[in-house]
Amino acid sequence: MRESLKFPNGFLWGTSTSAYQIEGGIENNDWLKVYPAGLACDHYNRYEEDFDLMKKLNQNAYRFSIEWSRIEPEEGKFNKKEIERYFKISQSLKSRGIEIMVTLHHFTLPVWLAKIGGFSNIKSIFYFSRFAKKIFLEYQNSVDFWITFNEPLIYASKGYLEGAWPPQKKNLILFLKVLKNQIASHKKIYQDFHNTKSNAKVGIAKNNIYFEPANRKSPLDKFSVFLARYFWNEYFLNRIGNRLDFIGLNYYFHNKIKFPFLKRNENKVVSDVGWEVYPEGIYYVLKGLRRYNLPIYITENGLADEKDKLRTNFIKDHLFWIHKAIQEGVDARGYFHWSLMDNFEWEKGFDPKFGLVEIDYKTLERKPRQSAFYYAQVCKNNSFIK
Ligand code: FCB
Repeated sequence: MRESLKFPNGFLWGTSTSAYQIEGGIENNDWLKVYPAGLACDHYNRYEEDFDLMKKLNQNAYRFSIEWSRIEPEEGKFNKKEIERYFKISQSLKSRGIEIMVTLHHFTLPVWLAKIGGFSNIKSIFYFSRFAKKIFLEYQNSVDFWITFNEPLIYASKGYLEGAWPPQKKNLILFLKVLKNQIASHKKIYQDFHNTKSNAKVGIAKNNIYFEPANRKSPLDKFSVFLARYFWNEYFLNRIGNRLDFIGLNYYFHNKIKFPFLKRNENKVVSDVGWEVYPEGIYYVLKGLRRYNLPIYITENGLADEKDKLRTNFIKDHLFWIHKAIQEGVDARGYFHWSLMDNFEWEKGFDPKFGLVEIDYKTLERKPRQSAFYYAQVCKNNSFIK
């Protein structure tokens, strides 16, 4: 008999997005010149329609980011109209009974801050925490969860080691400075929010990878895995662990490692962008997070799949492993699929299609894919059939 797997009461079911990837019309951040997103999904003007869709698809939670360059287009000058607009967004979500998780930094910076080095400049701690506090005071009554940084290590390595993302540097010293300033910013923001409202829920969205030795019998492979796990999955969390109310987990990757750090994935199933689909990895990563003794929200998980051939099974299989982890004591309390709709995928542009909902970029029409209806059933039932 096919078994129905139930999730804990109150489990959050939603989707994740970020401002630059969907809003459109952002003209004052550091990505614009290198990777322009143009009108993106025009969510800026169509958010009511998008929230109706979310509601129709039975989602009860939503994670999105606030675009700093809209709120503070010039240093120290806050834009009332934009502050008001995000307020309307929050009210619009609340009126539909949708819980809100806000990301304060999701990869983009206002130009004025990028010009002085962004997070590689120690002053970023002051600027970012001032922005965060402002946002907090404006929206504290409607926001349920706060995320300071989205994927701090991805951000630092793509922008300061690989040279792929703004500011396109390849500089170990800058990379380390960015990490240091992110850690300090997070701690300060955590403290500031708690000083204002003791029950604020402040977390981070951490991209953790399931690292596995290519050869389980090789001490060198195992040692590489130990180091990779420590530096990629644990270091940042260890540094901020006593200033976290929950952990947000973004899970996309499994890496089989051969000494020293060579990837040897089997890639039996891959998404449109070539990322391996490896559902059981989420189970091991969740188990690894148990040591922090904090509630966990899966803040991102998804794949590029334009034809929607894999997405339904992708969701089902990941939920199976999440459910198993919960059965074994992992305190996971919500799942946010990446993403609600197709969007601007950073340096890859608009080609990868991560959406439950397809966007027709000519007409901007929204068309839910089949997998969106599958996910809607799961959201409604708080369970799924294995
Ligand atoms: C994550 C990012 C998110 C999106 C997905 C596919 O690393 O946080 O913005 O691009 O990957």
